[in-house]
Order: sequence, then C-alpha cells, then structure tokens
Amino acid sequence: MLTPRGSLGAVELQEGPSRYIVTAMQVARTIADMREARARMAGSVGFVPTMGYLHEGHLALARRARAENDSVVASIFVNPAQFGPDEDYDRYPRDEERDLRLLEDESVDVAFVPSTEEVYRRGYHTWVEVTGPLVNRLEAASRPGHFRGVTTVVAKLFNIVQPHRAYFGEKDAQQLRVIRKLVGDLSLPVEIVPVPTVREEDGLALSSRNVYLSPEDRQAALVLPRALDLARMMVEGWGLRDADLLRESLHDYFRQKPQVQVDYVSVAAPETLDELAVINDSALVMAAVRVGGTRLIDNVTLTPRGEPLEDVEGRVEEMWGRRRPGEAGAAE
Ligand code: PAJ
Repeated sequence: MLTPRGSLGAVELQEGPSRYIVTAMQVARTIADMREARARMAGSVGFVPTMGYLHEGHLALARRARAENDSVVASIFVNPAQFGPDEDYDRYPRDEERDLRLLEDESVDVAFVPSTEEVYRRGYHTWVEVTGPLVNRLEAASRPGHFRGVTTVVAKLFNIVQPHRAYFGEKDAQQLRVIRKLVGDLSLPVEIVPVPTVREEDGLALSSRNVYLSPEDRQAALVLPRALDLARMMVEGWGLRDADLLRESLHDYFRQKPQVQVDYVSVAAPETLDELAVINDSALVMAAVRVGGTRLIDNVTLTPRGEPLEDVEGRVEEMWGRRRPGEAGAAE
C-alpha cells in the first residue's frame, strides 16, 4: 500500500476556481508499490538515491531534481552490500522520520524506502560490477567490494524507479564516474547529473558520517578542505604543473596534523582517474583521510590558468623545506 504522508501542513491550497492540489509525498516501501507510483507519473522523472540521514548536500540533489523534472523520486536505503565487514553498516546513522519530513519539504513526490529483505530477497545472487582501472584504486583499494555493492543497488534502483535523470554528488567523485561507466556500458536510459559539493561554512564537505566526529576531530578534519584550498592556490594561483610535487606537498601538509592519517592523495585525469605526471588541462585532486575512527573524502577539480610564477617548483619545495638534488644545501 502506498502511504500518503503529511497532515494539513502538506496540503497546499492554490488560488483559482475551486481548485486545490494535494502535494503530500507518498512513501513506497515495496518494489510493487514503487512501480505502481511510477506508472502514474507522466513526463520526466528525476531520481535521487541516498542512504538517508539527509543533509543539505542530499537536499541540493533533490532541489536540482525538482527543478528539472515533472516528478521526483528519492530513495533511502542503507545498502549493506557496499559496506565491508569491518565498516560502519550497523552504526550508520539513521533517522527515517526526519528524512521523510525533509524530502517532503523539498516537494519530492515519492520516497522509496525499502527494507533490506525487500531489496535482497532470500536467495539473492546477482551482482552488477564495473571492472577495470576505474575500480582498482583509490576508494576501491581501501574498500574492497564497495563499488560492486554500489553499482548493484543503483542498477536495481534504476530498474525499479526507471528515472529519466539521476542525481549524484561530486563529493563522491569516483562513485560518480563508476556510475557513469555502469550507465554507459550497459546502455541504461538514464542521464547522470552531477551536483557540486555542499560544504559547511568552514569548508568541511557535508557528510552523514560527520556526526561521528568529536569536537576535536571535527576541528582536525578541516585539514582536508584546507589541503584542497592549498592545492588550488598552488595550481591555479601559482601555476604548479608538477603533479608529484603537488602530491608530496599535500602529504607534507597532512603530516602537520598527527591525529589525521592519510589514506590516499591523488592528482588524476578527471575522466579516467589515471594519476598525472604533469597537470596540463585539468586535474581532479582527491584525498581520503581518517580522523579519529572516521574516514572522510573530498576532492576538487583544478585548471591551471595563465603563466606559472617564475620557478614555481623551487618555491613550493622551499615552502616545505625541501631541496632539489644537487642544489646547494641538499645534503644539509
Ligand atoms: P549517500 O552517501 O547517502 O549519498 C547520496 C548522494 O548524495 C550521493 O550522490 C552523494 O555523492 C551525495 N552527497 C553526499 N554528500 C554531499 C555533499 N556534501 N554535497 C553534494 N552531494 C553530496 O552515495 C551514496 O549514499 C550511496 O553510495 C548510494 C549512491 C545511495 C548507493 O547506495
């Protein structure tokens, strides 16, 4: 059964000759109910897949979907298949009531909130997996099987919801590319729309996992967006093109915070995610760090502009107290 949500507050009276439109969001908990709701939708359908515990980042996707489509579906499903055995599936934050209210406030038409048993019925044995260089590094190296879980559930959700467009955050840069590959390779009839990362005022990217951070860790976590700001300054401001030097500088920067452990720093080609030696056109700078027990990721796309500062490499090396081999003082 489809459940209409909302009380009077969700019913909008529109000016006009005895006409009112009910905007109550519907909640579909089964695949059958979701399909039924989908069958009643005319025009374009935008889809926002999430794992819930919604924040302004998720809501930015919902708003964009609302602006670009006739109907909007959002899903809330904490997908066990994308968590490793030692990861935080059990303690992943959940607050369905609040999530549904937030989605309703964004005028989402249907919230698809299936149970684990509904998505992975007894005897479930099918996986959808992107292979190759996109998924053998970065997040995949730290989280084996993660993307297989993501692509399996996203393929399944696309089949159920059948959206024209689906909205994904740029914050999960590798995930966005893996989803694009899935859609391209399987010729799925869905347009993938990337949405810029939403940040706190101090620069930290919004994430459902930020609730794990103690006040001290929350402060230490700022090293992540600040490192990306530093990368922007070095590449776009000063014209640094040497990707190795950029990676090393960011490692040096992170080293200043003992409570932060670096998982990876990557300076890659934005489409392929191949590590770059030289930044010519643009670079996707990605980093993953652990602060306390919490793993955080962030990224920025950089495009060098204009002429580099004179001896920019030398200046950057000096900044970190390095000397190039053979230079005076190298052996000091
Ligand atoms: P979740 O982490 O809940 O994120 C849902 C969507 O919100 C993703 O597309 C993510 O990139 C986007 N998002 C998260 N934080 C954001 C921010 N600060 N700014 C903009 N967008 C942000 O990603 C997943 O769930 C799952 O892997 C999922 C795709 C739902 C499959 O289970």
